[in-house]
Amino acid sequence: MIYAGNFKSNHTRKSTEYYLKALAQKLGAKQAEDKVYIFPPLTAIDHYEGDFTLGVQNAYPTHHGAFTGEIGLEQLDEFDIKTILLGHSERREHLGESQADISKKFAFFQDQDFEIVYCIGEPLAIREKGFEAVMQYLLAQFEGIDIGYENLIVAYEPIWAIGTGRSATVEEISSTHRALKKVLKHTPLLYGGSAKPSNIKEIKNIAGVDGVLVGSASLETESFLEMILS
Ligand code: PGA
Repeated sequence: MIYAGNFKSNHTRKSTEYYLKALAQKLGAKQAEDKVYIFPPLTAIDHYEGDFTLGVQNAYPTHHGAFTGEIGLEQLDEFDIKTILLGHSERREHLGESQADISKKFAFFQDQDFEIVYCIGEPLAIREKGFEAVMQYLLAQFEGIDIGYENLIVAYEPIWAIGTGRSATVEEISSTHRALKKVLKHTPLLYGGSAKPSNIKEIKNIAGVDGVLVGSASLETESFLEMILS
C-alpha cells in the first residue's frame, strides 16, 4: 500500500520537522512493502531522516529563470527532491492550471525522472450525470500525459469528496478504479477524498486500490499513523 500525505497550505517548517520526527520513529512498525510519502508546503522542504519520501505539491517546469513566485529544478535538487504531485483539483480550480499547463509540467518532470503522483477527479455535477460521464471526464485528464511512464502513480480523487468529510462509497470507488485500471494496467492507483482512520480499512480492501492520498487526516501524526498501521 501507498500512503501519501498532502499537507496543502498547512504546517510550518517547524511543525513539519516535529511531525516527521514523530512519524519516522513509528514507521518501523509498518509493513516493509508499504510506502509513505509526505508533501509538505515548499517552505518546509529539507533533508529529513526516515522511511518516507518527501515530495513537493508543485514546481515550475524550468531549471531556473524568471518565474516570479515559482521554484524550479535547481531549488528541488538542493534538497534531493525527486517526487512531485501534479494535477491536483485545487490547482486546476483555484490556480487555473489547464490540462495543457499540467501536461507541460508532467513532460518536464518525467524528463527529469521524477516520481509523479498525478491526480484526476470529477466534480459533483459530472458524477450526477452518471458513470459514463465520469469516465469520459477522467480520461480527458490523461490528455497529454504519458500514462505508460514507469515512475507514475495516479490518484483518483472525486472533487466532491475532498475535504468534505464525505468519502466516495465503496461501490463508487470500486467501479471507478476497475475502469481506470483497464487503462492504467500496472500503474499504482490511489484513492483520495476524505480518507481517514474510520474508513481506511474499508477503502484498502477495495480491489484496484493501491493506496490513499490523504489531506486533512494526514495533518496529525497520530491519525496518519493509525491509517498506515491499520
Ligand atoms: P482530504 O484531501 O483527505 O482532506 O479530503 C485529499 C486531497 O486533496 O488530496
